[in-house]
This record gives sequence, structure tokens and C-alpha cells, in this order.
Amino acid sequence: MRIGSVVIPGSTVLAPLAGITHLPFRLLARAQGCGLVCSEMISANGLHHGSPKTIRLMESIAGEKPLSVQIFGSDPDIMVEAARRVAASGADMLDINFGCSVRKVVKTGAGAALMRRPEDSGRMLRAVRAAIDIPLTIKIRTGWDPSGDEALFIARLAQDCGVDAVAVHPRTATQGFGGCADWSLIHRVKRAVSIPVIGNGDIETPEDALRMFDSTGCDAVMVGRAAIGYPWIFSGIEAAVHGRPVPDVTPAMRITAMTRYLNDVVRSIGEAHACRMMRSRLGWFAKGLPHAGQFRASLHHLSSREEALDKIAGYGALLSAS
Ligand SMILES: Cc1cc2nc3c(=O)[nH]c(=O)nc-3n(C[C@H](O)[C@H](O)[C@H](O)COP(=O)(O)O)c2cc1C
Repeated sequence: MRIGSVVIPGSTVLAPLAGITHLPFRLLARAQGCGLVCSEMISANGLHHGSPKTIRLMESIAGEKPLSVQIFGSDPDIMVEAARRVAASGADMLDINFGCSVRKVVKTGAGAALMRRPEDSGRMLRAVRAAIDIPLTIKIRTGWDPSGDEALFIARLAQDCGVDAVAVHPRTATQGFGGCADWSLIHRVKRAVSIPVIGNGDIETPEDALRMFDSTGCDAVMVGRAAIGYPWIFSGIEAAVHGRPVPDVTPAMRITAMTRYLNDVVRSIGEAHACRMMRSRLGWFAKGLPHAGQFRASLHHLSSREEALDKIAGYGALLSAS
């Protein structure tokens, strides 16, 4: 797949996940062949005010590229300024969030609220498109009405405004994450536009991804929750797409990934903060495995990198013995 001038090496995309898809997490996805990684959503207002915390969310290194940085906001001038900052940061593409339905975001006119104000959204998209040279994408939901008409309208509008690709998470704004994603809408969007369409929602296994490709004709699949603690979802999908057997994930591979994640997070935010974060996050990698509860409990008071490495090694030994 190609998005504007950027060639995506593969057919998978890591979904933006607020509070989760920081640089160390994205590196795990890239190491498993994910074709395009996305930052978590970044406030255009925060960039406008020069908030150091917000600016840090754009932290990137060459090894994770191509990187898409997602922003949210609604004011066209502020969005243009934020888009320029993202482009200047070295991001390979800019994504605008049209799907977030959290109250705090929607009440400012951003996220999914953009889907019910197509005229304003069109003006904003044109202004952003004119301001940057890197590819521009949007990520939408079904909209506010379950018919999907808003999604079709916004996707066509985006294409007319020069947007280079659209990601579709086919749940309504009021649905949150309940019920099932309605993949038939991805198919309808794919038929309605000629730019690449990235399908998203409820992919948990490589077989799910194949079903989404088959039933929707989408150009790539985007995976969010299933990648949390399981970056091998990307290598599994790539294998399945090419008709190869999906490789087994061994305990040793999980231990290596946990160790890498720990070390990268320590490097990124410092040992003390990283250890607090790892108390819940290392457990992600043990989901569904024997002794996962015991491993998670052992992390409650984690306070140093050395201690974390010990716990990881101990869990590895437990897994190998069972
Ligand atoms: C914890 C969490 C954070 C999310 N943050 C964002 C975000 O920052 N931007 C965005 O466009 N979507 C966000 N989403 C939605 C996901 O990108 C994705 O559309 C959704 O989870 C459906 O895909 P999945 O079934 O593969 O998880 C978030 C979802 C979750 C669960």
C-alpha cells in the first residue's frame, strides 16, 4: 500500500491508542513487521500552547518509521499550526482524529464531533492540506447515526479535500467499544472512494484480518487492542496474508519482548517512572498464559529495573518449566 508519497511495507497498521502507543510500544510493533505505526492522539491545542508534555508525545526515532502522528482539535488555525509542527518533527504522515467520542473531546468540537459538521471539517481539512507536504489521513467512526451515511459523506469529502487515506472504525460515536464493529461499512467506504481505506475494529487473530480483507476489500488492516502485550499479531497477519503458517510465539520470545519494552521505557522516561508503569504493563505480555496472575501480583511494588529484570527472568523460568 502507498499513502501519498509514503510506501507502507506491509498490510498492517498499529491503531492509535491514547496512553499506550508511545515510542517503546510502537517499536515492539515495528519489530514484528507492522507496516505503519501511529502515535496516540495529540492535542492540537497542547501543541499550540507549547506544552512540553504534549510535544514529548511526538518523540520518535528512525527505527520505527514510517510513523503517523495523530492530532485532535477543531479550530482550523490551531490545526494548521499543529500540522506544521508535526511535519517539522519529522513524522512521515499526519492523521486527524474524527472518531474519538470521549465527552471531553467531543464537547470542544473535535474527534467524532467533526463528523456532524462536514462544512467546517471540509474547511479545516483544506487548510491543513495546503499547509503541509507530508501525506494526510483521517480516522473516522460510523458517525452519530448508525446508517453509516455520515462516514460515506466524510470519506468522500476528505478525498475531495486532498486527504490521502481514510481509516474506518465502524462503530457509532455513541457505541463506544460495545457491540461489534460493522465491517460492511468498511466495504461501502472502499467502494465510495479511490484513496486507500484502512479497515479497523475487532481484529483479534490473523484469521480475523484475512476475513476483513476478503469481506471489505480494504487496503490494510489496523489493529489496536489485540496488539496490547501481543505485537506478534502483526507478524501473524503478515504470514497469513502471504499464505505462510502463523509462527508460534514461544515463552522466550515473550521474555525478550518484555525485556526490550522495559529497557526502552526506562530509556524514554527514566527508571522510577518506568517501573511504576511496568507494574501493570508487563502483565499484558502474560495474558492467557500459565501463572499470569502470580506474575502480575509479583509486579505490584516494582521499584527498579534490576528487580523487573529478575521478575521477568523468574516468569520465563516458570513458563519453560510448565
Ligand atoms: C485504550 C484505547 C485508546 C484509544 N485511543 C485512540 C486514539 O488516541 N485515537 C484514535 O483515533 N483512536 C483511539 N482508540 C480507538 C482505536 O484506535 C481503535 O479504533 C479501536 O480500539 C478499535 O480497534 P481494535 O478493535 O483493533 O481495538 C483507542 C482505543 C482504546 C481501546
